[in-house]
Amino acid sequence: MSKRKVTKAIFPVAGLGTRFLPATKSIPKEIMTLVDRPLIQYAIDEARAAGIKEFIFVTSRGKSALEDYFDRAPELESSLKKAGKEQLLDILKDTNMDSGAIAYLRQDRPLGLGHAVWCARRMIGNEPFAVLLPDDVIAAEKPCLQQMVEAYEQTGGNMVAAMEVPPEKASAYGVLDIGEDMGSIVKAKGMVEKPKAEEAPSNLAVIGRYILSPKVMTNLNKMKHGAGGEIQLTDAIAEEVANGEVYGFRFRGQRYDCGSKAGFLQATVAFGLARPDLRDEFNAYLHDMVALQKAAQ
Ligand code: UTP
Repeated sequence: MSKRKVTKAIFPVAGLGTRFLPATKSIPKEIMTLVDRPLIQYAIDEARAAGIKEFIFVTSRGKSALEDYFDRAPELESSLKKAGKEQLLDILKDTNMDSGAIAYLRQDRPLGLGHAVWCARRMIGNEPFAVLLPDDVIAAEKPCLQQMVEAYEQTGGNMVAAMEVPPEKASAYGVLDIGEDMGSIVKAKGMVEKPKAEEAPSNLAVIGRYILSPKVMTNLNKMKHGAGGEIQLTDAIAEEVANGEVYGFRFRGQRYDCGSKAGFLQATVAFGLARPDLRDEFNAYLHDMVALQKAAQ
């Protein structure tokens, strides 16, 4: 069981983002803003906190705004400097990446999450790696991937972030078949992508954070098409169950599905209310809105 340090992360951002059309016709979903930061910034900050040093983006046509976001903005920086706006300059610093720390690869066709991850195989080589889906935003005291890296130090193998969902919702996720339940860590004896409601092995669903062994890349080489005709990451991870090396991790935190409109709105409310500079005004507004809604019913 290999337990090497995890320093590389893949961010698959090549999806079409059809649930957010027409916005995503010209704006990558990952650039959409939660309060004042694009989704991708939350994922990058989480990865940094977990000790990630190499950031690999799997992109596609029409995602250049994402690449620009991590570039320096010399004109903006010098004008802020001249105006003495140090606080804004600090905020901008978080968006800069060291030279060589970030790489962009193209997925030529949206063949699925598994295929997007496979596109990064040469950069991963023979090392364990993390995968973060930026549209899953997780509010947590200790960032989710950091919690996972700490748990992974005990287990090695492959680890997926997991959370209990209402049974009727399980068929929207990858679902774990629980072998041994050790509390926050669960050893899986199976894993299935989007099972039919009556066939879901549990209600422990996999969400968009993974720490994977390079064997998963080898499994992806087979290019097997799974649920929905896509090349599924879940299937490639599930192959490692036979080796007893797949763990679910019940993270501490709240996950928001920012790939869906309702989830994005919920996250906007939660993150808005968590911001000291916005909380009071926003809270008062929400109260008024709720009162108005009730009165109209
Ligand atoms: P989603 O299932 O959310 O698909 O992908 P999507 O295309 O982004 O959005 P909808 O469903 O059309 O609205 C989950 C993650 O996998 C990436 C997406 O960019 C997202 O981060 N992905 C998906 C790829 O990189 N390539 C693919 O072929 C499919």
